[in-house]
Amino acid sequence: MTKRTKEFDHWIRNEFVMLNDRLEGMYREQADPANVVGVGEEIKQQLLLQGQKYIEALLKEGNTDEGFDNAFDLLGNVGLYMAACRRHELTEPSKERQSPLKEASALSMHIGSSIGVTPRFATAHLTTHNTAVNGTYKRFTSDPAEKLFIDYNTRGILAYKRAAEALLKVQPLGISHPMTPVLLEEVKRALVDVINSNQALFKQLDTASFFYVVRPYYKPYRVGKEVYRGANAGDFAGINVIDMMLGLCQANDVDYAQILVEKLLYMMPEDQATLKECMRLPNLLDAFLAAQSHRHESWYQEALKVFLQACKLHGDTAIQHHNQLVEKYICGPAKNLANQHLDKVTASGPPLQVLLDQLKTLRDKRAAAKRADLDTRHDDLKVLRQSLIKPEVHHAS
Ligand code: HEM
Repeated sequence: MTKRTKEFDHWIRNEFVMLNDRLEGMYREQADPANVVGVGEEIKQQLLLQGQKYIEALLKEGNTDEGFDNAFDLLGNVGLYMAACRRHELTEPSKERQSPLKEASALSMHIGSSIGVTPRFATAHLTTHNTAVNGTYKRFTSDPAEKLFIDYNTRGILAYKRAAEALLKVQPLGISHPMTPVLLEEVKRALVDVINSNQALFKQLDTASFFYVVRPYYKPYRVGKEVYRGANAGDFAGINVIDMMLGLCQANDVDYAQILVEKLLYMMPEDQATLKECMRLPNLLDAFLAAQSHRHESWYQEALKVFLQACKLHGDTAIQHHNQLVEKYICGPAKNLANQHLDKVTASGPPLQVLLDQLKTLRDKRAAAKRADLDTRHDDLKVLRQSLIKPEVHHAS
């Protein structure tokens, strides 16, 4: 890390948080706490100019080739600054043709394109690749709701990654290998961890704090000419590895392929590589369907039973995400909002109904629900369940 990079990092971890906190305090005191216009103008300017000073110096420093980790970390810091400018409406993509933050845009594009990721802050910057200094990792504010949200996003992501890693290890072994049920048990444990972590978040996170203090920092913003959508907890390969290795979602399905294409550059390069590799691999559901002549073998019965349980749990995590988290924290507040603030609800940009339909599609594919208008593995899983000598798993239908 260069001296200038360190100074900027120190600013992001300290003054930047203090300035955001002061602005959040002022917004909260208003009759309409969703309004940011005309409030705390002096503090907003301080934030804008202080950040700009560091970024101008870094831009002049040029490509110092400090390695991937440092470049990725610096991109995250510039991104946090740009996202905060967006949150305080110092920038507003719908009113601009290009970002007024010229130096920040240049630095982000330089780094992003040189390391092969989107030129904005991504989920990894706040979760899995967010170094803690003396117990505190980078955040926008010191609000406890934000820490809670990031803690549980990170837990969920780490648990999904564990499930994905175990599934990838099944690949070279095949479904009849005695270690396959062992690995699938590991997948189940990790998915239960996701469910428990999401449940704890659901219980503890206050809806108003999430809506007013956390979510606004995850909005889309412009970098140069282009608008980049906000970060979300799904921007890692593991979730899709699970979808595809189990066989619940397939890369040649038009709706699902769209999601993969869109999210690829929001991931770390190693995740991009894993995802691409996974798109070329066969899946377990098809392997069990192709093994019907062995259905009376004990290996088939043992492995299929655990496989069906793993599928059920993966579907349960998706149902929980949609019916609990999205419902409580996105749909709930949206119903009570004046129209002019509706844009604050989603991070990704599309109108709320479009976003909800996309998430519903994912939920139903993962849960293998029966839907007349959508390809899911409902019927294939039914065939497999019927091949169990003692059927124990009942999948949602
Ligand atoms: C995507 C809401 C927590 C996993 C999304 C999206 C929304 C959303 C609205 C669509 C993209 C967008 O933001 O515009 C929420 C809310 C949460 C929450 C309100 C909690 C308050 C989590 C957690 C995880 C998670 C803890 C676990 C890792 C995902 C995934 C996606 C996603 C994987 C990508 C789409 C998919 O593949 O399903 N979330 N989320 N979310 N979220 Fe969450």
